[in-house]
Amino acid sequence: PKTLIEPFRIKSIEPIRMTSRAEREQLLQAAKLNVFKLHAQDVLIDWLTDSGTGAMSSRQWGAIMEGDESYAGARSFYRLEKVIQNITGMQFFVPTHQGRAAEKVLFTAVCKKGDVVPNNCHFDTTRANLEYLGIEALDLVIAEGLQPATIHPFKGNIDLARVEALLKECGEQIPFGMITVTNNTGGGQPVSMANIRAYAALLKQHGKPFIMDVCRFSENAMFIKMREPGYENIPIKAIVQEMFSYADGATMSAKKDGMVNIGGFIVLKSEEWMDAVRNVLIMTEGFPTYGGLAGRDLEALAVGLEEGMQEDYLRYRLRTAEYLGERLEAAGVSFVKPTGGHAVYIDARTVLPDMPLKHYPAWALCNALYLEGGIRGVEIGSVMFGKRLADGTETYHSMELVRLAFPRRMYTQSHFDYAAEVIAEVKEKASTIRGVKITKQPQFLRHFTCECAWV
Ligand code: F0G
Repeated sequence: PKTLIEPFRIKSIEPIRMTSRAEREQLLQAAKLNVFKLHAQDVLIDWLTDSGTGAMSSRQWGAIMEGDESYAGARSFYRLEKVIQNITGMQFFVPTHQGRAAEKVLFTAVCKKGDVVPNNCHFDTTRANLEYLGIEALDLVIAEGLQPATIHPFKGNIDLARVEALLKECGEQIPFGMITVTNNTGGGQPVSMANIRAYAALLKQHGKPFIMDVCRFSENAMFIKMREPGYENIPIKAIVQEMFSYADGATMSAKKDGMVNIGGFIVLKSEEWMDAVRNVLIMTEGFPTYGGLAGRDLEALAVGLEEGMQEDYLRYRLRTAEYLGERLEAAGVSFVKPTGGHAVYIDARTVLPDMPLKHYPAWALCNALYLEGGIRGVEIGSVMFGKRLADGTETYHSMELVRLAFPRRMYTQSHFDYAAEVIAEVKEKASTIRGVKITKQPQFLRHFTCECAWV
């Protein structure tokens, strides 16, 4: 049989509430046309993010009962430490409450003002944490990584020639090189093992450590297995171990491939850096054996990291995104290609070619998906990245995308079929979709809280 089924069955369910279009119109109006302000119970299919929103397995729930809540030296810490040392090959590990805390603690401990950090693409919190410390965050992804329609197996690769030029030009300002797997900002696109290996060698040649942002390391490993010659028959865990073998450290948001609802960590090869990290960690996150998490969270993560590397699961996971992509292709809706690991990014400008940027087409499409079918995605366009200048004019983002990000092990194929139908219907009715204007906005990160009105 051709159908790739969900490699699990459902043991515990959470009902979702059906709403009518008329109800959704009222609810969206009350949310000031901003889906972030909706109550989650009024959303039918919540694809706002894949972060911390997934379903845990019965083994994880079982492990939760074994959580050791001791302040110092909890059994749960040592259990997780063993799992992480085995996967990463690195000795020094501390938990944090989520990914951005790991970033903040590491950067505060080992970087200084005036530094420059290269990456394929920094995720927004990574960039913000660096910039807050007066550090420049440079995105050096390959050119294909910025072209939505260009097909390339590893659009998350970093441009090594540009990294080399940077190392030669201002090497003394670079505390380490980073890479994000998969590249979320660029569409959930993977990085090849060859690129990781060569980047690591280049950094080593210049005496620089290599730090990976590994939120979605298992999905990246599965792409390597499926697309990179020589890895077809290598087990996922061995691919993961090879990826980590090139790094000197990593920051992780366990809310993604850790398969948990909260958590993160820092792992390092260097004891000296870990000593510096622990000093900051104790001030902000907690004692190094819990780092802002409960013992039960550490237990759930120890199980989740292993489950996230299961090949059946990963094959189904990547296929899910690809499947929705195929349905969109058939409906004539453009999206970032090929589909990434955790999400599909619809190109709103192809659905709403006539809508001016000042009416925010991706935001408008996001609202239309909610009105038509109760689906919540997130705008990655000019509301998120544009700016209102002092003279009242606006800058616009280079792309108008709607990201549909899939919580892990949560939605079944019929949910995806339904979503594909809703998107196709929205496209058919594109001429009736209304743009918006922003009526109230904060100074920073306006998409989270801004208020809008129809134009
Ligand atoms: N790095 C990457 C690549 C991420 O995608 C995220 C979070 C973080 C770091 C920060 O981790 O949320 O645990 O503090 N991404 C989520 C998203 C929020 O929706 O893409 P966190």
